[in-house]
Amino acid sequence: MPAPYLVFKSVSKNFGALEVVSPSFDLEVKRREFVVFLGPSGSGKTTLMRMVGGLETPTKGQITIDGQPVEGPDRSRGMVFQSYSSFPWLTVAQNVAFGMKYRLDISPKKKKERLAHYLALVGLTDFANVYPNKVSGGMRQRIAIARTLAAGSEILLMDEPFGALDAQRREDLQLQLRLIQQQDAKTVIFVTHDVDEAVFLADRIIVFSKRPARMLEEIDVTALLGTERTLALRDSEAFFHLRTKILRLVRASAGADE
Ligand SMILES: Nc1ncnc2c1ncn2[C@@H]1O[C@H](COP(=O)(O)OP(=O)(O)O)[C@@H](O)[C@H]1O
Ligand SMILES: [Mg+2]
Repeated sequence: MPAPYLVFKSVSKNFGALEVVSPSFDLEVKRREFVVFLGPSGSGKTTLMRMVGGLETPTKGQITIDGQPVEGPDRSRGMVFQSYSSFPWLTVAQNVAFGMKYRLDISPKKKKERLAHYLALVGLTDFANVYPNKVSGGMRQRIAIARTLAAGSEILLMDEPFGALDAQRREDLQLQLRLIQQQDAKTVIFVTHDVDEAVFLADRIIVFSKRPARMLEEIDVTALLGTERTLALRDSEAFFHLRTKILRLVRASAGADE
């Protein structure tokens, strides 16, 4: 068993009288694991994510990474949101490079190599010199992913990043994200309320209750479906069976009053 990498230890969070994460949340994420937080809107998923990002502090408990408590934002933990704003006056390549602009520890030569690597990884090499308003929403999300990775993120925090995309683009990006994550060996926490998206992407799904967020169930998707995610898998009986089971669970929890 590899040592846990990202650890939530007895974490709770209130905003004044509002209990958002309660009574306490515990989770151990392994390095290179793809964990999906699945749960109803307003349950506290974004808040948990922002605590990993160092943008919120737990009211009680602690979040640690490699044993070090999270004490503020850090480039090793990059966030990708639904509405990513790229700089319209910079090209795709310049937008991606922006993430490492202030890295004095990386030589200009190395920066060039990294830029080429991450543009290729997200399939944007041919669009390097195009301006973001000329590319699709899906490509803009790929810019955001590449920029975050180029900046040196070891943990990708993705908060419903594909929520604004149409179904086809969304499937494409899910496929690509899973490949990128496997190739680039990053740890991902991904928030969604889309069950199919969760099953397709996750090594492990954490199903949350309504607010205050509690873990209702943990599903080891990789144990059931393996690590390789393809379009064929999406059409398989095993996939359908699992997504139906989780959908029932989510519906039951959404309907149940606290
Ligand atoms: N900074 C804040 N101050 C007060 N309430 C907040 C703040 N951030 C989030 N909340 C509240 O916490 C609850 C959970 O929000 P959030 O974590 O965004 O849920 P989710 O991402 O699951 O939809 C919501 O009721 C929201 O209004
Ligand atoms: Mg949210």
